[in-house]
Amino acid sequence: MAKQITIIGTGYVGLTTGACLAYLGHQVVCIDTNVEKIAELNSGICPIYEKGLPDLLAKGLETERLSFSDTADTKLLQNEFIFLCLPTPQAEDGRAELSAIYEVAESLKSFLSSKAIVVNKSTVPVGTCKVISQIIGREDIDIVSNPEFLREGSAIEDFLKPDRIIIGANAIEASDRVAELYSNLESPIIQVDWASAETVKYATNSFLAMKVSFVNALAAVCEAVGADIELVAKGLGTDNRIGSKFLQPGPGWGGSCFPKDMQALVRLASDSGYKFELLEAVVDANAQQFKRIAEKVEKAVGKSLEGVHVAVLGLTFKAGTDDIRNSPAIAVSKLLSELGAQLNFYDPLVESLPEELSDGIVHDSAEKAVTNTEVIVILTEWPEFKDLDWIKFQRIAKSSKIVDARNLLNPQTLRDIGFEYASLGRK
Ligand code: UGA
Repeated sequence: MAKQITIIGTGYVGLTTGACLAYLGHQVVCIDTNVEKIAELNSGICPIYEKGLPDLLAKGLETERLSFSDTADTKLLQNEFIFLCLPTPQAEDGRAELSAIYEVAESLKSFLSSKAIVVNKSTVPVGTCKVISQIIGREDIDIVSNPEFLREGSAIEDFLKPDRIIIGANAIEASDRVAELYSNLESPIIQVDWASAETVKYATNSFLAMKVSFVNALAAVCEAVGADIELVAKGLGTDNRIGSKFLQPGPGWGGSCFPKDMQALVRLASDSGYKFELLEAVVDANAQQFKRIAEKVEKAVGKSLEGVHVAVLGLTFKAGTDDIRNSPAIAVSKLLSELGAQLNFYDPLVESLPEELSDGIVHDSAEKAVTNTEVIVILTEWPEFKDLDWIKFQRIAKSSKIVDARNLLNPQTLRDIGFEYASLGRK
């Protein structure tokens, strides 16, 4: 049955959640204080780059199941479900910054209708639902934790076909009512308590980051012992207990979630008296991976990088998104720049450089970025990089060297063209 839902926050999670819940048949209004963004959304303009989202937005507006408001009109707060999709950035001490959530909880509490459910989707430390419940302080209102597992670039698919839906509540009736919102989906629903739901979120991201760091380390071992990481990852991932996803070596993990959530879990554990050394080591290993890639570039060039022109293909933290937050491509580029390299960037979705790379130049084509450079470094796995005119690039680059930090290209093809080609853990 269609439910009345209010979503607070129209960032990545709020927008995807709102558009998908409307697609599932519910009546959804999304609230955000950003007046311009709301005006854009109401006229069908999608503020973020996300496959499938503009279509769902258009459908939602057309069917009038989805609407947007820049004011938290008290009427809008009287819907049966209030979803909190608010930012929880990393504070300086590594903990998650929760003021946005607490302020909203405080401002809502007297307007909620009796029997409403406040559903938290923001990524929060264990114990946050309890605090929200204390702030709201009403026995007729339930708080439910319903963490998101949306990847940028495939958020819609992840929402509509999730591996599982986690619902954390301290009352089964509230948990069942939230589960009903997803009754059109076929995925298993796991109903747990608040703390367990909140932990699953951090545990999932941390485990995935650990998996990526593991395969990156394994790629280094493969190089040392003469094995091939692609064959090793295939052999490893075919074991059902391990699984084949998140075994792609690269320049390290990044994005707006993994780094912040790893730090938050390390911090949460130490605040609770447990030193999570395993995760601390993963965080260190990721920083080492950035260095390893920079060293590979230095090795490929065969001399100091001082004054050397380098082409960097890719700036986003992974393909399929325009997001450069905590991008490994930026971390590696920064190291290259510190070693004196002159950086020439190309990324299909990035037009300007962050402050820390302002010495570099962004080009509007890979060809321009590559021209007259001594080494080409691939840092994001954009599929279109495979189809670049590598024969021409071999001519226009000053020397024929590639460091493919995403194992994107075929080594033999590139060597046949005449490149000195280096990648991660491949023969
Ligand atoms: C991640 C999680 O995958 C989502 O489930 C979660 O909801 C989201 O964080 C969040 O907490 O909001 P996302 O940040 O979009 O999603 O990025 P991922 O696709 O997980 O990739 C993270 C990083 O790992 C990227 O830098 C990517 O390039 C890297 N990676 C991933 C690899 O290097 N190799 C792999 O095999 C997979």
